[in-house]
Amino acid sequence: MLKLTFLGHSCVSATDGKYKIVIDPFLTGNPQATLTPEEIDVDYILATHGHSDHLGDSIAISKRTGATIIAPNELAVWVTNKGAQAHNMHIGGAYSFEFGRVKLTIAHHGSAAGESGLEYTGNPCGFVFSIGGKTVYHTGDTGLFLDMKLIGELDNIDVMFVPIGDNFTMGIDDAVKAVEFVNPKVVVPIHYNTWDIINAEPEDFKKRLDGSGVDVVILKPNESLEL
Ligand code: NI
Ligand code: MN
Repeated sequence: MLKLTFLGHSCVSATDGKYKIVIDPFLTGNPQATLTPEEIDVDYILATHGHSDHLGDSIAISKRTGATIIAPNELAVWVTNKGAQAHNMHIGGAYSFEFGRVKLTIAHHGSAAGESGLEYTGNPCGFVFSIGGKTVYHTGDTGLFLDMKLIGELDNIDVMFVPIGDNFTMGIDDAVKAVEFVNPKVVVPIHYNTWDIINAEPEDFKKRLDGSGVDVVILKPNESLEL
């Protein structure tokens, strides 16, 4: 069993009924968030990069719950220096955690954190992870890249989370191509309509994938998908 819940922007939680994880827990200051960081109780946090709309409340949640932050090495070092628990990984590497396997993929984007927003936190990533017998690909913030074909070839992706908001990441045109490359069973659009600069119409994305064989599921914040 796998239950995936969209928590707004790029934040997704996943549970197999035993373990609970959250990806990019940006809740404080997230106009789409329906939960506060204090309501998040997880075993692991997957952080794609240091930008505040992704790293978000990771450190506070880790400190309060003891959850381990799984992140690219430089970001993992950065959060460790702030008193959080971390498991350092890097792109191309996979590790089997108690809930399942996590592999870091490339993402074409930036990564920095801190008050200036310019403290170096290494390369951004995406995550391919398994939990509850299913495999999920959360691309993180990225532009389109041809190697997504390889990601879809190496793992059978059950659910893909893909940004469609444009400006900082792929827009709908490139996201449709990304879905064709990865060929997941289900795709969920993320990273749109949080602010006007990333406004996008998820129904347009869905229409563009009509007849592709991929099931497009549009989740409102706090809506879940069970597999
Ligand atoms: Ni970003
Ligand atoms: Mn972002």
